[in-house]
Amino acid sequence: MDNKRFYIETYGCQMNFADTEVVNSILMDNGMDPVQSAEEADIIFVNTCSIRENAETRVWNRLKEFRSLKKEKGELTVGVMGCMAERIKEQIIEQEQLVDIVVGPDAYRDIPNLLKEVHDGRKAVNVLLSLEETYADITPVRTSGNGVTAFVSIMRGCDNMCAFCVVPFTRGRERSRPMSSILREVEQLREQGYKEVTLLGQNVNSYNYEGIDFTRLMDEASRANPEIRFRFSSPHPKDFPEPLLHLIAERPNLCNYIHIPAQAGSDTMLERMRRPYTREQYLKLIDRMREIIPGVSLSTDIIAGFCDETEEEHQATMSLMKIVEYDLAYMFAYSERERTLAHRKYEDNVPEEVKKRRLSEIIKQQMNIQQKSNEAEAGRRHLVLVEGESKRSDQQLSGRTDTNKMVVFDRLDFGKGDYVEVEITGSTSATLFAKPVRKSSIAEFHAGQAVPA
Ligand code: 5AD
Ligand code: SF4
Repeated sequence: MDNKRFYIETYGCQMNFADTEVVNSILMDNGMDPVQSAEEADIIFVNTCSIRENAETRVWNRLKEFRSLKKEKGELTVGVMGCMAERIKEQIIEQEQLVDIVVGPDAYRDIPNLLKEVHDGRKAVNVLLSLEETYADITPVRTSGNGVTAFVSIMRGCDNMCAFCVVPFTRGRERSRPMSSILREVEQLREQGYKEVTLLGQNVNSYNYEGIDFTRLMDEASRANPEIRFRFSSPHPKDFPEPLLHLIAERPNLCNYIHIPAQAGSDTMLERMRRPYTREQYLKLIDRMREIIPGVSLSTDIIAGFCDETEEEHQATMSLMKIVEYDLAYMFAYSERERTLAHRKYEDNVPEEVKKRRLSEIIKQQMNIQQKSNEAEAGRRHLVLVEGESKRSDQQLSGRTDTNKMVVFDRLDFGKGDYVEVEITGSTSATLFAKPVRKSSIAEFHAGQAVPA
């Protein structure tokens, strides 16, 4: 195994990207070197996602491509890690030549041993889930990314058991990482020049480490690092802590942006989905968010075409989205997953065309809402953290507002990692355009905002 080159290709959520950085660290500690493409690698890992059928399909196709690459190269080790590991371990091992290693989300420390087994000519599998593993002592190695924004995982697993969701089965029980190790990682990121940190978990408001709750964690992290802006993903509407709203309102470096997944807009559907809140409670929470944090930006997740969905229920989802006017929404057609409650108890009975039609109605309405809310941004001032050059031109920079909107503006003499005060001049439904005003900082920008003109 000396000086082998490895490549990890990552699918799925931010948590998976964070896990890839943990595995980078484990492999590099074992003397292996990361490379930037599959072609250069001796070992390829695919970090997989099971959330919807199409996520899995993409992975299967990719694995077939790697099988051809393996034939060409003669020698190549291919591993599957992440959420698909448990469910397809048999299939994967049976499919001759497709995969040598299967490793689940809680078994990454075992990868060096698994690689030895493969070296000795065996297939290697470890998909054991754990009640304790948080990889707290492993410092993730960020080999890709922009060097400005980072994800830090604060907990693993999920105990919510939403009827549609496979995550509790792929990632196991919920457990929180010690606050001290989270704060240490943030401090290291700050020393490396990172300016934005997103704290990650499947259900962050149930973070609890020895009595320390999520609000306390956000408080400590943001107080210790005033020039780092913090985001988090994802909270659950059922028990969102109100003290956190007050903290966000008063702390300049806690972003005024909350991703708060609704999934659906009717009580009947929410109940079938095993989401323990009503439409009214959800809307009340949104009102509180807007009262306590004026101008807060909101995003959500929505599923169209879940089991037994009626046209009325679909309309209720549409109307909820219209009432809230989300700044951003992630919208999906329901995809049945084995082992979930929905798979065991309900029938996936909304025809594919109906799912697609409802989803496109939802998307169309949302695009109109975003277009309008972005138009209303014209003339406003924002503090943008520059993440890099814009996709279209190296003469322009792009970054995000505190409210998580993407902004593009002329480069002038600004650069990556700068906080720039800008004035919005135009928009599309996805991007704001702006004129840069001055280089700034979180403290300076907020001092200016606090004093009425
Ligand atoms: N089908 C479609 N979308 C799903 N999600 C989770 N499970 C499914 C499924 N089986 C969506 C939810 C969740 C987001 C991460 O993915 O909206 O919040
Ligand atoms: Fe996909 Fe969910 Fe696993 Fe993330 S936790 S990789 S979204 S299945």
